[in-house]
Amino acid sequence: MQLAERLSKIPPYLFMELRQKVGKARAAGVDVISLGVGDPVEPTPEGIIEELSRQARNAANHQYPPDEEKGMGPFRQAVADFYRARYGVSLDPATEVLALIGSKEGIHHFCLARVNPGDVVLMTDPGYPAYRASILMAGGEPHSIPILPEGGYLPKLSDIPSDLARKASALFLCYPNNPTGALATKAFYADLARWAKDYDVAICQDGAYSEMVFDPADRVSFLQAPGAMDVGVELGSLSKSYNMTGWRLGMVMGNRDLIAGISKVKENTDSGVFAAIQHAGIRAIQAENGNIDKMLGIYRKRQQLVVDTFNGLGWSFQPPKGTFYLWLPTPKGMSSIEFTNLLFDKAQVVVAAGTAYGKFGEGFVRLSLAVPDGRLAEAMERIKKALAK
Ligand SMILES: Cc1ncc(COP(=O)(O)O)c(C=O)c1O
Repeated sequence: MQLAERLSKIPPYLFMELRQKVGKARAAGVDVISLGVGDPVEPTPEGIIEELSRQARNAANHQYPPDEEKGMGPFRQAVADFYRARYGVSLDPATEVLALIGSKEGIHHFCLARVNPGDVVLMTDPGYPAYRASILMAGGEPHSIPILPEGGYLPKLSDIPSDLARKASALFLCYPNNPTGALATKAFYADLARWAKDYDVAICQDGAYSEMVFDPADRVSFLQAPGAMDVGVELGSLSKSYNMTGWRLGMVMGNRDLIAGISKVKENTDSGVFAAIQHAGIRAIQAENGNIDKMLGIYRKRQQLVVDTFNGLGWSFQPPKGTFYLWLPTPKGMSSIEFTNLLFDKAQVVVAAGTAYGKFGEGFVRLSLAVPDGRLAEAMERIKKALAK
């Protein structure tokens, strides 16, 4: 059966070869430790599970959810209240907030709502691969904007040629950043909002890791920037902050026109999130923020263990300020894929090659701290043995 051309444009998953190797090794009984994925291993907090169970027993929740494509009013209100308390940003829950089936849905629907076939869409590189795929599925042309260590992994807006900026209809970026763990600043977001207005570029700031910031003083939202509400949206997610990746609950906040566009796409694509899950999400946002601090404490300790291990092996590596990832330079002269293969072959530890996130990811690998403490400790012991001279 011939499939649609748009699918053939989506690049092959760079990690496929390694995934096959891992599958074979596991089938042969090898104890492989994966630091490759960003999926919290600790369970969802009990209060959230209890709320889901209670709401799942209410027959009213078995029907299509209220305000299907927008998300329930009380959920949108809870998000607006959270934004006001956390960031001092005021949002109208009726027109400036939507519930999503995970923030990944927002990436895709943002493209369908904004991008016309042939439009240039900018995205940071390294960056989350779903941006490229969603841009391509909407018929857009992805264009990479490098984010480099010397620039704090923030795009240098003044380096984007003005003819390119004029052609672009949108820009994807993500802070706290996957894969580098870097954070944005208020000053950067203010520049970004001005730049976006000058060039009429719609911003999609992916805040899937918004709460994964080690120092609360560093926590910022794009929507705090003057003029941000005129030019873009911010995605949010309950996945990482409340250990709820499997629940599929996220949100998008910001510019009314973009929100209305995404809502229209949703209206014609899905019928919203199971109401019981939205109720559980309200519980998370309103009453379970202690989980965020608890998890940050856990990730901080794991981060320290990894940093100490590699620095003990000759690296001179500073831990990032956000996310549960570490963006580790490869040894001199070794490519991302070579180092990834070496760690697998010598230590049976899986990491993600930096090039899986774009060509500017060359020379790095990404390690995820979403792994049980004991397994991480074992992985570090194996790496110490494998790399010791
Ligand atoms: C940068 C980034 N954005 C979005 C997502 C999707 O998250 P979810 O759909 O679970 O909210 C992920 C998941 O790993 C991610 O890393």
